[in-house]
Amino acid sequence: MLTIRLIADPTGFDALALPVRPVEATAPDRGRSTGETDRDEGPLAELPPTALALPEDLLAEATALLPLVEQTGSAGTTHLSVRALRQPSRLLLVGVGAADEAGWRAAGAAIARTTRETSITIAMPADVTPEAVRGLAEGLWLASYRFRLAQATEPAGLTEVLVAVADPAAHEPALELARVTARTTRFARDLINTPSSTKSPQWLADQIVAAAAEHPGLTVSIREPEQLAAEGFGGILAVGNGSATGPRLVELSWHPAGASTHVVLVGKGITFDTGGISIKPREAMKLMRKDMAGAAAIVAATLGAAELRLPVRITALAPLAENMVSGSAFRPGDVIRHYGGLTSETTNSDAEGRLVLADALAYAVERLAPDLLIDIATLTGANAVALGKRHAALYSENDELAEALIGAGRTAGELAWRMPLTNDYVEYLGSDIADLYSAPASGAGSVTAALYLREFTGPLRDRWVHVDMSAPSWAEGNDGPVVKGATGYGVRTLLRWLGDLG
Ligand code: BES
Ligand code: MN
Ligand code: ZN
Repeated sequence: MLTIRLIADPTGFDALALPVRPVEATAPDRGRSTGETDRDEGPLAELPPTALALPEDLLAEATALLPLVEQTGSAGTTHLSVRALRQPSRLLLVGVGAADEAGWRAAGAAIARTTRETSITIAMPADVTPEAVRGLAEGLWLASYRFRLAQATEPAGLTEVLVAVADPAAHEPALELARVTARTTRFARDLINTPSSTKSPQWLADQIVAAAAEHPGLTVSIREPEQLAAEGFGGILAVGNGSATGPRLVELSWHPAGASTHVVLVGKGITFDTGGISIKPREAMKLMRKDMAGAAAIVAATLGAAELRLPVRITALAPLAENMVSGSAFRPGDVIRHYGGLTSETTNSDAEGRLVLADALAYAVERLAPDLLIDIATLTGANAVALGKRHAALYSENDELAEALIGAGRTAGELAWRMPLTNDYVEYLGSDIADLYSAPASGAGSVTAALYLREFTGPLRDRWVHVDMSAPSWAEGNDGPVVKGATGYGVRTLLRWLGDLG
Protein backbone atom coordinates (compact mmCIF):
# COMPACT_ATOMS: atom_id res chain seq x y z
CA MET A 1 0.00 0.00 0.00
CA LEU A 2 1.41 3.39 -0.87
CA THR A 3 2.45 5.67 1.97
CA ILE A 4 0.15 8.61 2.71
CA ARG A 5 1.42 11.23 5.14
CA LEU A 6 -0.29 14.30 6.57
CA ILE A 7 2.19 17.12 6.71
CA ALA A 8 2.04 20.84 7.50
CA ASP A 9 5.05 22.10 5.56
CA PRO A 10 6.34 19.87 2.78
CA THR A 11 9.47 21.21 1.11
CA GLY A 12 11.00 20.64 -2.28
CA PHE A 13 8.16 18.78 -3.97
CA ASP A 14 8.55 18.03 -7.66
CA ALA A 15 4.93 17.08 -8.38
CA LEU A 16 2.02 19.06 -6.97
CA ALA A 17 -1.72 18.40 -7.12
CA LEU A 18 -4.10 21.33 -6.73
CA PRO A 19 -7.79 20.67 -6.01
CA VAL A 20 -10.28 22.47 -8.21
CA ARG A 21 -13.96 23.10 -7.45
CA PRO A 22 -16.81 24.06 -9.78
CA VAL A 23 -17.73 27.74 -9.48
CA GLU A 24 -20.97 27.55 -7.45
CA ALA A 25 -23.78 25.21 -8.36
CA THR A 26 -24.76 26.72 -11.70
CA ALA A 27 -21.40 26.38 -13.39
CA PRO A 28 -21.48 22.75 -14.63
CA ASP A 29 -25.00 23.24 -16.06
CA ARG A 30 -23.92 26.26 -18.00
CA GLY A 31 -21.41 24.20 -19.90
CA ARG A 32 -23.68 21.23 -20.36
CA SER A 33 -26.91 22.91 -21.48
CA THR A 34 -25.38 24.90 -24.30
CA GLY A 35 -22.84 22.24 -25.20
CA GLU A 36 -20.08 24.84 -25.05
CA THR A 37 -18.49 26.93 -22.36
CA ASP A 38 -19.26 30.62 -22.28
CA ARG A 39 -16.03 32.38 -21.34
CA ASP A 40 -17.78 35.73 -20.94
CA GLU A 41 -19.39 34.41 -17.83
CA GLY A 42 -16.02 33.61 -16.30
CA PRO A 43 -14.24 30.35 -15.51
CA LEU A 44 -16.18 27.19 -14.66
CA ALA A 45 -13.87 26.17 -11.89
CA GLU A 46 -11.86 27.81 -9.15
CA LEU A 47 -8.92 27.01 -6.89
CA PRO A 48 -9.87 27.11 -3.24
CA PRO A 49 -7.38 28.82 -0.92
CA THR A 50 -4.88 26.22 0.25
CA ALA A 51 -3.43 25.58 3.69
CA LEU A 52 0.01 25.42 2.13
CA ALA A 53 1.43 28.84 1.15
CA LEU A 54 2.17 28.62 -2.58
CA PRO A 55 4.09 31.12 -4.75
CA GLU A 56 1.88 33.80 -6.33
CA ASP A 57 3.11 33.05 -9.84
CA LEU A 58 2.24 29.37 -9.49
CA LEU A 59 -1.29 30.23 -8.36
CA ALA A 60 -1.68 32.74 -11.18
CA GLU A 61 -0.55 30.13 -13.68
CA ALA A 62 -2.97 27.52 -12.35
CA THR A 63 -5.84 30.01 -12.33
CA ALA A 64 -5.11 31.03 -15.92
CA LEU A 65 -5.00 27.36 -16.95
CA LEU A 66 -8.53 26.59 -15.75
CA PRO A 67 -10.48 28.17 -18.64
CA LEU A 68 -7.79 27.19 -21.16
CA VAL A 69 -8.14 23.48 -20.37
CA GLU A 70 -11.89 23.84 -19.79
CA GLN A 71 -11.64 22.50 -16.27
CA THR A 72 -15.12 22.10 -14.81
CA GLY A 73 -13.96 20.93 -11.39
CA SER A 74 -16.12 17.80 -11.70
CA ALA A 75 -15.03 15.09 -9.29
CA GLY A 76 -12.19 13.00 -10.68
CA THR A 77 -11.35 15.15 -13.72
CA THR A 78 -7.65 15.95 -14.12
CA HIS A 79 -5.35 18.12 -16.13
CA LEU A 80 -1.60 17.62 -16.00
CA SER A 81 0.85 20.41 -16.93
CA VAL A 82 4.49 19.58 -17.46
CA ARG A 83 6.69 22.56 -16.54
CA ALA A 84 10.19 22.29 -17.98
CA LEU A 85 13.00 23.83 -15.91
CA ARG A 86 10.59 24.87 -13.17
CA GLN A 87 9.47 23.59 -9.80
CA PRO A 88 7.18 21.82 -9.39
CA SER A 89 7.85 20.15 -12.73
CA ARG A 90 4.39 18.56 -12.75
CA LEU A 91 1.23 20.44 -11.85
CA LEU A 92 -1.93 18.36 -11.62
CA LEU A 93 -5.29 20.11 -11.45
CA VAL A 94 -7.82 17.71 -9.98
CA GLY A 95 -11.58 18.21 -9.71
CA VAL A 96 -13.19 17.51 -6.34
CA GLY A 97 -16.79 18.28 -7.39
CA ALA A 98 -18.94 19.07 -4.36
CA ALA A 99 -15.83 18.59 -2.19
CA ASP A 100 -17.69 16.01 -0.12
CA GLU A 101 -16.29 12.58 0.73
CA ALA A 102 -17.40 11.11 -2.62
CA GLY A 103 -15.85 13.99 -4.55
CA TRP A 104 -12.56 13.59 -2.76
CA ARG A 105 -12.66 9.81 -3.19
CA ALA A 106 -12.96 10.30 -6.95
CA ALA A 107 -10.15 12.86 -6.83
CA GLY A 108 -7.90 10.47 -4.89
CA ALA A 109 -8.57 7.69 -7.40
CA ALA A 110 -7.80 10.06 -10.29
CA ILE A 111 -4.52 11.16 -8.69
CA ALA A 112 -3.50 7.52 -8.19
CA ARG A 113 -4.23 6.76 -11.87
CA THR A 114 -2.59 9.85 -13.41
CA THR A 115 0.58 10.24 -11.40
CA ARG A 116 3.69 8.70 -12.94
CA GLU A 117 6.09 10.13 -10.35
CA THR A 118 7.03 8.18 -7.23
CA SER A 119 5.90 11.02 -4.97
CA ILE A 120 3.27 13.77 -5.15
CA THR A 121 2.20 16.52 -2.77
CA ILE A 122 -1.46 17.52 -2.55
CA ALA A 123 -2.18 21.06 -1.38
CA MET A 124 -5.45 20.65 0.53
CA PRO A 125 -7.93 23.54 0.80
CA ALA A 126 -7.63 25.66 3.92
CA ASP A 127 -11.16 24.56 4.95
CA VAL A 128 -10.39 20.84 4.55
CA THR A 129 -12.68 18.45 6.49
CA PRO A 130 -11.85 15.02 7.93
CA GLU A 131 -14.33 13.57 5.39
CA ALA A 132 -12.22 15.07 2.60
CA VAL A 133 -9.07 13.45 3.97
CA ARG A 134 -10.82 10.13 4.40
CA GLY A 135 -12.27 10.23 0.88
CA LEU A 136 -8.96 11.25 -0.67
CA ALA A 137 -6.99 8.54 1.11
CA GLU A 138 -9.52 5.80 0.33
CA GLY A 139 -9.53 6.83 -3.32
CA LEU A 140 -5.73 6.74 -3.45
CA TRP A 141 -5.40 3.40 -1.70
CA LEU A 142 -8.26 1.64 -3.45
CA ALA A 143 -7.47 2.82 -6.99
CA SER A 144 -3.77 1.95 -6.66
CA TYR A 145 -4.60 -1.68 -5.80
CA ARG A 146 -3.07 -4.31 -8.09
CA PHE A 147 -3.36 -8.09 -8.17
CA ARG A 148 -0.77 -9.75 -10.33
CA LEU A 149 0.70 -13.23 -10.45
CA ALA A 150 2.87 -12.43 -13.49
CA GLN A 151 6.60 -12.95 -13.36
CA ALA A 152 7.26 -9.68 -15.20
CA THR A 153 7.27 -6.70 -12.85
CA GLU A 154 5.43 -3.44 -13.49
CA PRO A 155 7.05 0.00 -13.17
CA ALA A 156 7.03 1.13 -9.53
CA GLY A 157 4.85 4.24 -10.00
CA LEU A 158 3.46 6.24 -7.10
CA THR A 159 4.78 5.17 -3.70
CA GLU A 160 4.29 8.23 -1.49
CA VAL A 161 1.63 10.93 -1.18
CA LEU A 162 2.11 13.98 1.03
CA VAL A 163 -1.17 15.60 2.05
CA ALA A 164 -0.52 19.21 3.02
CA VAL A 165 -2.90 20.43 5.74
CA ALA A 166 -2.49 23.11 8.41
CA ASP A 167 -3.09 20.75 11.34
CA PRO A 168 -1.99 17.16 10.55
CA ALA A 169 -2.91 15.82 14.00
CA ALA A 170 -6.54 16.88 13.53
CA HIS A 171 -6.85 14.64 10.47
CA GLU A 172 -5.00 11.54 11.73
CA PRO A 173 -8.21 9.76 12.86
CA ALA A 174 -9.79 10.21 9.42
CA LEU A 175 -6.64 8.87 7.77
CA GLU A 176 -6.69 5.89 10.11
CA LEU A 177 -10.32 5.09 9.21
CA ALA A 178 -9.36 5.25 5.55
CA ARG A 179 -6.31 3.05 6.15
CA VAL A 180 -8.33 0.30 7.84
CA THR A 181 -11.11 0.51 5.23
CA ALA A 182 -8.64 0.31 2.36
CA ARG A 183 -6.48 -2.40 3.91
CA THR A 184 -9.46 -4.66 4.59
CA THR A 185 -11.03 -4.00 1.18
CA ARG A 186 -7.71 -4.84 -0.46
CA PHE A 187 -7.48 -8.03 1.61
CA ALA A 188 -10.95 -9.05 0.37
CA ARG A 189 -9.94 -8.26 -3.23
CA ASP A 190 -6.81 -10.41 -2.88
CA LEU A 191 -8.86 -13.38 -1.66
CA ILE A 192 -11.47 -12.97 -4.41
CA ASN A 193 -8.93 -12.54 -7.20
CA THR A 194 -6.94 -15.61 -6.14
CA PRO A 195 -7.43 -18.51 -8.57
CA SER A 196 -9.43 -21.44 -7.28
CA SER A 197 -6.58 -23.91 -7.83
CA THR A 198 -4.98 -22.19 -4.83
CA LYS A 199 -8.16 -21.15 -3.07
CA SER A 200 -9.50 -24.35 -1.53
CA PRO A 201 -11.87 -24.02 1.44
CA GLN A 202 -8.98 -24.97 3.77
CA TRP A 203 -6.65 -22.42 2.15
CA LEU A 204 -9.27 -19.73 2.60
CA ALA A 205 -9.78 -20.76 6.22
CA ASP A 206 -5.99 -20.59 6.74
CA GLN A 207 -5.90 -17.02 5.36
CA ILE A 208 -8.65 -16.01 7.76
CA VAL A 209 -6.83 -17.58 10.71
CA ALA A 210 -3.58 -15.82 9.77
CA ALA A 211 -5.30 -12.43 9.35
CA ALA A 212 -7.20 -12.80 12.63
CA ALA A 213 -3.97 -13.55 14.48
CA GLU A 214 -2.86 -9.96 13.83
CA HIS A 215 -5.63 -8.56 16.04
CA PRO A 216 -5.81 -9.39 19.71
CA GLY A 217 -9.35 -10.23 20.72
CA LEU A 218 -10.35 -12.05 17.56
CA THR A 219 -11.06 -15.76 17.80
CA VAL A 220 -11.58 -18.24 14.98
CA SER A 221 -13.00 -21.75 14.91
CA ILE A 222 -13.03 -24.00 11.86
CA ARG A 223 -15.38 -26.92 11.42
CA GLU A 224 -14.19 -29.74 9.18
CA PRO A 225 -16.52 -32.21 7.43
CA GLU A 226 -16.68 -34.71 10.35
CA GLN A 227 -17.77 -31.97 12.71
CA LEU A 228 -20.21 -30.54 10.16
CA ALA A 229 -21.75 -34.00 9.79
CA ALA A 230 -22.00 -34.50 13.54
CA GLU A 231 -23.91 -31.24 13.91
CA GLY A 232 -26.13 -31.66 10.85
CA PHE A 233 -24.86 -29.04 8.39
CA GLY A 234 -26.39 -30.91 5.43
CA GLY A 235 -26.32 -27.99 2.98
CA ILE A 236 -22.62 -27.25 3.34
CA LEU A 237 -21.77 -30.96 3.17
CA ALA A 238 -23.91 -31.60 0.07
CA VAL A 239 -22.42 -28.71 -1.88
CA GLY A 240 -18.86 -29.57 -0.84
CA ASN A 241 -19.18 -33.27 -1.51
CA GLY A 242 -18.26 -33.21 -5.19
CA SER A 243 -14.93 -31.54 -4.53
CA ALA A 244 -11.51 -33.05 -3.79
CA THR A 245 -11.08 -30.27 -1.23
CA GLY A 246 -13.73 -30.61 1.46
CA PRO A 247 -15.96 -27.88 2.88
CA ARG A 248 -15.35 -25.83 6.03
CA LEU A 249 -17.38 -23.54 8.24
CA VAL A 250 -15.34 -20.64 9.59
CA GLU A 251 -16.61 -18.76 12.63
CA LEU A 252 -14.72 -15.55 13.34
CA SER A 253 -15.67 -13.63 16.49
CA TRP A 254 -15.01 -10.15 17.76
CA HIS A 255 -16.41 -9.87 21.27
CA PRO A 256 -15.30 -6.64 22.99
CA ALA A 257 -16.14 -6.17 26.68
CA GLY A 258 -19.26 -4.10 27.18
CA ALA A 259 -20.67 -4.56 23.67
CA SER A 260 -24.45 -4.17 23.71
CA THR A 261 -25.34 -5.32 20.20
CA HIS A 262 -24.48 -8.70 18.69
CA VAL A 263 -24.41 -8.79 14.91
CA VAL A 264 -24.02 -12.01 12.94
CA LEU A 265 -22.65 -11.60 9.43
CA VAL A 266 -23.02 -14.54 7.04
CA GLY A 267 -21.16 -14.63 3.72
CA LYS A 268 -21.35 -17.09 0.83
CA GLY A 269 -17.99 -18.78 0.37
CA ILE A 270 -18.11 -20.92 -2.77
CA THR A 271 -14.45 -21.14 -3.78
CA PHE A 272 -15.45 -22.17 -7.30
CA ASP A 273 -18.91 -22.61 -8.79
CA THR A 274 -19.10 -24.95 -11.79
CA GLY A 275 -22.84 -25.20 -11.26
CA GLY A 276 -22.33 -28.84 -10.28
CA ILE A 277 -24.27 -31.46 -12.26
CA SER A 278 -26.51 -28.62 -13.53
CA ILE A 279 -23.28 -27.38 -15.08
CA LYS A 280 -22.82 -23.78 -16.16
CA PRO A 281 -22.10 -22.84 -19.78
CA ARG A 282 -18.44 -21.81 -20.25
CA GLU A 283 -18.92 -18.04 -20.38
CA ALA A 284 -20.93 -18.11 -17.18
CA MET A 285 -18.29 -20.22 -15.40
CA LYS A 286 -15.08 -18.43 -16.20
CA LEU A 287 -15.22 -15.90 -13.35
CA MET A 288 -16.69 -18.20 -10.72
CA ARG A 289 -13.62 -17.98 -8.51
CA LYS A 290 -15.30 -14.83 -7.26
CA ASP A 291 -18.19 -16.81 -5.76
CA MET A 292 -16.74 -16.42 -2.27
CA ALA A 293 -16.90 -12.60 -2.38
CA GLY A 294 -19.59 -12.52 0.31
CA ALA A 295 -17.40 -14.51 2.70
CA ALA A 296 -14.45 -12.25 1.91
CA ALA A 297 -16.56 -9.16 2.64
CA ILE A 298 -17.83 -10.27 6.05
CA VAL A 299 -14.42 -11.53 7.15
CA ALA A 300 -12.67 -8.33 6.04
CA ALA A 301 -15.29 -6.13 7.69
CA THR A 302 -14.88 -8.06 10.95
CA LEU A 303 -11.09 -7.71 10.79
CA GLY A 304 -11.60 -3.98 10.26
CA ALA A 305 -14.01 -3.72 13.19
CA ALA A 306 -11.42 -5.41 15.42
CA GLU A 307 -8.65 -3.16 14.18
CA LEU A 308 -10.80 -0.11 14.94
CA ARG A 309 -11.86 -1.73 18.23
CA LEU A 310 -15.53 -1.03 17.48
CA PRO A 311 -17.73 -1.64 20.54
CA VAL A 312 -19.99 -4.12 18.73
CA ARG A 313 -20.00 -7.90 19.11
CA ILE A 314 -19.63 -9.52 15.70
CA THR A 315 -19.71 -13.13 14.61
CA ALA A 316 -18.76 -13.71 10.99
CA LEU A 317 -19.87 -17.06 9.58
CA ALA A 318 -18.28 -18.18 6.33
CA PRO A 319 -19.56 -21.49 4.92
CA LEU A 320 -16.83 -22.51 2.45
CA ALA A 321 -17.26 -25.14 -0.25
CA GLU A 322 -16.35 -25.86 -3.84
CA ASN A 323 -19.27 -26.71 -6.13
CA MET A 324 -17.81 -29.30 -8.50
CA VAL A 325 -18.96 -31.93 -10.99
CA SER A 326 -17.94 -35.45 -9.97
CA GLY A 327 -19.18 -38.87 -9.02
CA SER A 328 -19.71 -37.71 -5.47
CA ALA A 329 -21.44 -34.44 -6.36
CA PHE A 330 -24.98 -33.89 -5.09
CA ARG A 331 -27.69 -34.27 -7.73
CA PRO A 332 -30.62 -32.21 -8.90
CA GLY A 333 -33.57 -33.72 -7.06
CA ASP A 334 -31.62 -34.83 -3.99
CA VAL A 335 -33.17 -33.87 -0.70
CA ILE A 336 -30.83 -32.45 1.89
CA ARG A 337 -31.41 -31.77 5.56
CA HIS A 338 -30.15 -28.41 6.81
CA TYR A 339 -28.86 -27.45 10.22
CA GLY A 340 -31.93 -27.34 12.45
CA GLY A 341 -33.94 -29.81 10.35
CA LEU A 342 -35.59 -28.02 7.41
CA THR A 343 -35.20 -29.96 4.15
CA SER A 344 -34.58 -28.74 0.59
CA GLU A 345 -35.26 -30.49 -2.68
CA THR A 346 -32.24 -29.41 -4.73
CA THR A 347 -33.96 -28.68 -8.01
CA ASN A 348 -30.82 -27.22 -9.61
CA SER A 349 -27.31 -27.88 -8.30
CA ASP A 350 -26.29 -24.41 -9.51
CA ALA A 351 -28.45 -22.89 -6.78
CA GLU A 352 -25.79 -23.96 -4.28
CA GLY A 353 -25.16 -20.68 -2.47
CA ARG A 354 -28.50 -20.66 -0.71
CA LEU A 355 -27.92 -24.23 0.50
CA VAL A 356 -24.77 -23.30 2.41
CA LEU A 357 -26.24 -19.99 3.59
CA ALA A 358 -29.34 -21.76 4.89
CA ASP A 359 -27.22 -23.87 7.24
CA ALA A 360 -25.28 -20.85 8.48
CA LEU A 361 -28.42 -18.74 9.01
CA ALA A 362 -30.17 -21.53 10.90
CA TYR A 363 -27.07 -22.06 13.04
CA ALA A 364 -26.82 -18.33 13.76
CA VAL A 365 -30.45 -18.12 14.84
CA GLU A 366 -30.41 -21.24 16.99
CA ARG A 367 -26.97 -21.13 18.56
CA LEU A 368 -25.94 -17.46 18.52
CA ALA A 369 -29.33 -15.71 18.86
CA PRO A 370 -27.94 -12.34 17.70
CA ASP A 371 -29.69 -8.98 17.72
CA LEU A 372 -29.19 -8.48 14.00
CA LEU A 373 -28.53 -10.91 11.16
CA ILE A 374 -27.01 -9.87 7.82
CA ASP A 375 -26.09 -12.13 4.94
CA ILE A 376 -24.27 -11.14 1.79
CA ALA A 377 -23.72 -13.32 -1.24
CA THR A 378 -22.97 -13.54 -4.95
CA LEU A 379 -26.28 -15.34 -5.12
CA THR A 380 -27.99 -14.81 -8.48
CA GLY A 381 -27.30 -13.61 -11.99
CA ALA A 382 -30.76 -12.05 -11.69
CA ASN A 383 -29.26 -9.29 -9.51
CA ALA A 384 -27.59 -7.79 -12.60
CA VAL A 385 -30.63 -8.45 -14.81
CA ALA A 386 -32.79 -6.39 -12.46
CA LEU A 387 -30.37 -3.65 -11.42
CA GLY A 388 -27.34 -3.59 -13.74
CA LYS A 389 -23.73 -3.79 -12.64
CA ARG A 390 -23.55 -1.21 -9.86
CA HIS A 391 -26.29 -1.96 -7.36
CA ALA A 392 -26.57 -4.89 -5.03
CA ALA A 393 -30.14 -6.07 -4.35
CA LEU A 394 -31.03 -5.59 -0.70
CA TYR A 395 -33.92 -7.32 1.05
CA SER A 396 -35.32 -6.79 4.52
CA GLU A 397 -38.61 -6.57 6.36
CA ASN A 398 -37.04 -3.95 8.59
CA ASP A 399 -37.23 -0.48 7.00
CA GLU A 400 -34.89 1.14 9.51
CA LEU A 401 -32.21 -1.52 9.15
CA ALA A 402 -32.49 -1.52 5.35
CA GLU A 403 -32.17 2.25 5.23
CA ALA A 404 -29.20 2.23 7.60
CA LEU A 405 -27.30 -0.22 5.41
CA ILE A 406 -28.20 1.48 2.14
CA GLY A 407 -27.22 4.83 3.68
CA ALA A 408 -23.91 3.50 4.99
CA GLY A 409 -23.17 2.17 1.52
CA ARG A 410 -24.08 5.48 -0.11
CA THR A 411 -21.65 7.37 2.13
CA ALA A 412 -18.95 4.76 1.72
CA GLY A 413 -19.33 4.67 -2.07
CA GLU A 414 -21.12 1.34 -2.59
CA LEU A 415 -24.64 1.18 -4.02
CA ALA A 416 -27.53 -1.03 -2.92
CA TRP A 417 -31.17 -0.94 -3.98
CA ARG A 418 -34.07 -2.16 -1.87
CA MET A 419 -36.01 -5.01 -3.46
CA PRO A 420 -39.36 -6.54 -2.47
CA LEU A 421 -39.84 -9.75 -0.51
CA THR A 422 -42.97 -10.47 -2.56
CA ASN A 423 -45.08 -12.79 -0.43
CA ASP A 424 -47.14 -13.87 -3.44
CA TYR A 425 -44.09 -15.78 -4.64
CA VAL A 426 -43.72 -17.86 -1.48
CA GLU A 427 -45.92 -20.49 -3.11
CA TYR A 428 -43.14 -21.21 -5.63
CA LEU A 429 -41.01 -22.48 -2.74
CA GLY A 430 -43.34 -25.44 -2.16
CA SER A 431 -41.88 -28.89 -2.84
CA ASP A 432 -43.89 -32.11 -3.11
CA ILE A 433 -41.40 -34.10 -1.04
CA ALA A 434 -39.39 -31.60 1.05
CA ASP A 435 -40.00 -28.39 2.98
CA LEU A 436 -38.64 -26.21 0.19
CA TYR A 437 -37.56 -26.18 -3.43
CA SER A 438 -34.06 -24.71 -3.59
CA ALA A 439 -34.51 -23.19 -7.06
CA PRO A 440 -38.16 -22.37 -7.64
CA ALA A 441 -39.02 -21.40 -11.22
CA SER A 442 -40.63 -18.05 -10.51
CA GLY A 443 -38.96 -15.77 -13.03
CA ALA A 444 -37.86 -13.50 -10.19
CA GLY A 445 -34.59 -15.22 -9.36
CA SER A 446 -33.12 -12.80 -6.86
CA VAL A 447 -36.46 -12.30 -5.05
CA THR A 448 -37.23 -16.00 -4.64
CA ALA A 449 -33.67 -16.66 -3.47
CA ALA A 450 -34.27 -14.06 -0.75
CA LEU A 451 -37.64 -15.64 0.13
CA TYR A 452 -35.94 -19.02 0.39
CA LEU A 453 -33.30 -17.68 2.79
CA ARG A 454 -36.00 -15.96 4.88
CA GLU A 455 -37.34 -19.41 5.77
CA PHE A 456 -34.19 -19.98 7.83
CA THR A 457 -34.28 -16.76 9.84
CA GLY A 458 -36.84 -17.92 12.43
CA PRO A 459 -37.45 -15.30 15.13
CA LEU A 460 -34.90 -13.00 13.50
CA ARG A 461 -37.05 -12.60 10.40
CA ASP A 462 -37.64 -8.88 10.98
CA ARG A 463 -34.06 -8.18 12.09
CA TRP A 464 -32.48 -9.75 9.03
CA VAL A 465 -31.05 -8.25 5.84
CA HIS A 466 -30.04 -10.16 2.73
CA VAL A 467 -27.71 -8.56 0.19
CA ASP A 468 -27.38 -10.15 -3.26
CA MET A 469 -24.10 -8.68 -4.48
CA SER A 470 -23.41 -10.77 -7.60
CA ALA A 471 -23.43 -7.71 -9.85
CA PRO A 472 -21.15 -5.22 -8.04
CA SER A 473 -18.71 -7.88 -6.81
CA TRP A 474 -16.69 -7.67 -10.01
CA ALA A 475 -15.68 -4.75 -12.26
CA GLU A 476 -15.06 -5.03 -16.00
CA GLY A 477 -12.82 -1.96 -15.88
CA ASN A 478 -11.35 0.71 -13.62
CA ASP A 479 -13.99 3.01 -12.15
CA GLY A 480 -13.01 5.53 -9.46
CA PRO A 481 -11.84 3.59 -6.40
CA VAL A 482 -12.72 0.31 -8.10
CA VAL A 483 -10.05 -1.54 -10.07
CA LYS A 484 -10.81 -4.06 -12.82
CA GLY A 485 -11.44 -7.42 -11.17
CA ALA A 486 -12.69 -8.05 -7.63
CA THR A 487 -14.18 -4.89 -6.12
CA GLY A 488 -14.30 -5.96 -2.46
CA TYR A 489 -17.94 -4.83 -2.48
CA GLY A 490 -19.54 -4.91 0.95
CA VAL A 491 -16.47 -4.27 3.08
CA ARG A 492 -16.89 -0.50 3.01
CA THR A 493 -20.66 -0.66 3.57
CA LEU A 494 -20.43 -3.11 6.46
CA LEU A 495 -17.53 -1.37 8.16
CA ARG A 496 -19.27 2.00 7.94
CA TRP A 497 -22.54 0.55 9.22
CA LEU A 498 -20.81 -1.27 12.10
CA GLY A 499 -19.02 1.97 12.99
CA ASP A 500 -22.36 3.80 13.08
CA LEU A 501 -23.83 1.08 15.36
CA GLY A 502 -21.08 1.29 17.92
N1 BES B 1 -22.83 -17.93 -8.20
C1 BES B 1 -24.00 -17.92 -8.96
C2 BES B 1 -24.59 -16.52 -9.16
C3 BES B 1 -23.79 -15.55 -9.97
C4 BES B 1 -24.02 -15.40 -11.31
C5 BES B 1 -22.86 -14.75 -9.35
C6 BES B 1 -23.30 -14.47 -12.04
C7 BES B 1 -22.14 -13.84 -10.08
C8 BES B 1 -22.36 -13.69 -11.42
C9 BES B 1 -25.07 -18.75 -8.29
O1 BES B 1 -24.61 -19.83 -7.55
C10 BES B 1 -25.96 -19.28 -9.35
O2 BES B 1 -25.50 -20.05 -10.14
N2 BES B 1 -27.23 -18.88 -9.34
C11 BES B 1 -28.18 -19.32 -10.27
C12 BES B 1 -29.46 -19.62 -9.54
C13 BES B 1 -30.46 -20.41 -10.33
C14 BES B 1 -29.92 -21.79 -10.63
C15 BES B 1 -31.73 -20.50 -9.53
C16 BES B 1 -28.40 -18.23 -11.31
O3 BES B 1 -28.37 -17.05 -10.98
O4 BES B 1 -28.57 -18.57 -12.48
MN1 MN C 1 -24.35 -21.54 -8.72
ZN1 ZN D 1 -22.72 -19.65 -6.82
